[in-house]
Amino acid sequence: MIKWGIIGAGNIAHRFADSLENLNDATLYAVANRTIEKAEKFRANHPSEKAYGSYDDLLADENIDAVYIAVPHKFHLEWVKKALEVGKAVLCEKPATLSLDEMKQISELAQEKKLFFMEAMKSRFTPAYREVKNLVEAGEIGNVIGVYTSLCRVFPLDNSGYFYEPVQGGCLLDMGVYNAALIEDFTKEPFELDELEYEMHEDTVEVYVNAKLTSGDVEVILESAFDRETETKAVIRGTKGLIIIPDFHRPTNYILQTQDSMKSVEVPYKVDDFYGEIRHVVDCLANDFTESPIMTLENSENVARLLDVIKAEIPYV
Ligand SMILES: NC(=O)c1ccc[n+]([C@@H]2O[C@H](COP(=O)([O-])OP(=O)(O)OC[C@H]3O[C@@H](n4cnc5c(N)ncnc54)[C@H](OP(=O)(O)O)[C@@H]3O)[C@@H](O)[C@H]2O)c1
Repeated sequence: MIKWGIIGAGNIAHRFADSLENLNDATLYAVANRTIEKAEKFRANHPSEKAYGSYDDLLADENIDAVYIAVPHKFHLEWVKKALEVGKAVLCEKPATLSLDEMKQISELAQEKKLFFMEAMKSRFTPAYREVKNLVEAGEIGNVIGVYTSLCRVFPLDNSGYFYEPVQGGCLLDMGVYNAALIEDFTKEPFELDELEYEMHEDTVEVYVNAKLTSGDVEVILESAFDRETETKAVIRGTKGLIIIPDFHRPTNYILQTQDSMKSVEVPYKVDDFYGEIRHVVDCLANDFTESPIMTLENSENVARLLDVIKAEIPYV
């Protein structure tokens, strides 16, 4: 039985705890918030042995095997490091870090400690995404020559939380990370930025990005926004066909188009969009893996590298 502790009793922690209830070989053991009141309130909704009013107290609990880090982005590095230092396996919400440099620090520490770390890239663990990945690897659409991704939402300034905060805000880290994870999964070479269109909020955070890149022979588009809606989809173009994944950050279907056929395939979640990721981590831990074979440390470094390549060209003040 894997005993989980949650760091941060905010929005997303509720979704994680709901989904965790569906596993019979893992359990929610403790939750921590920076106020004990909020931790206790969370515990009332999601029963657990313990509620802590400090993240350090949770990490000091030797009964906990794995920690889910669900605080805003800029605190990830600090709490991942502290969790690894005390011997916990870690699942950390996306984006794992603010930069490639930070991600490398995590990789080094996890490897040194021989402990499991995974960025919570839930999209990769949905049944629909797994099916698409298998089809591409089986050569169903030939060689990949283009990966086009668009994930844009309107997040108004007045109820934005950390979205508009300098350094950790911006659409790239919050949502572009899903585009980057998909792109990274279907390309192999380093990324070169060819064209970049962007819009800023107060010169400190980007609210729209349309980046055209090349990765070896593969043409790549990453479009991300806080200030507009577009149809959310990823298109993987191959030499013999293409696959469209609607809502690629949490997909439940895809469209496969080849030279002589086109079909739309529904692949519902098992339980919900979080379940596959949690199931995977628990299986990895049961098998003493120190890394996921599906979302590796290198995959997270590639994601951070791609976002860094784009951010390097945006003149933040
Ligand atoms: N996988 C997904 O589908 C998904 C969806 C949404 C978000 N996320 C990710 O999950 C993470 C958390 O997002 P969220 O929306 O859940 O955030 P949130 O609700 O704003 O906050 C989560 C937790 O962080 C704590 N926190 C906030 N500021 C803090 C500070 N200065 N020091 C220490 N703790 C602090 C909050 O404590 P208080 O309650 O005391 O403020 C709360 O417990 C983000 O990195 C985000 O990208 C993932």
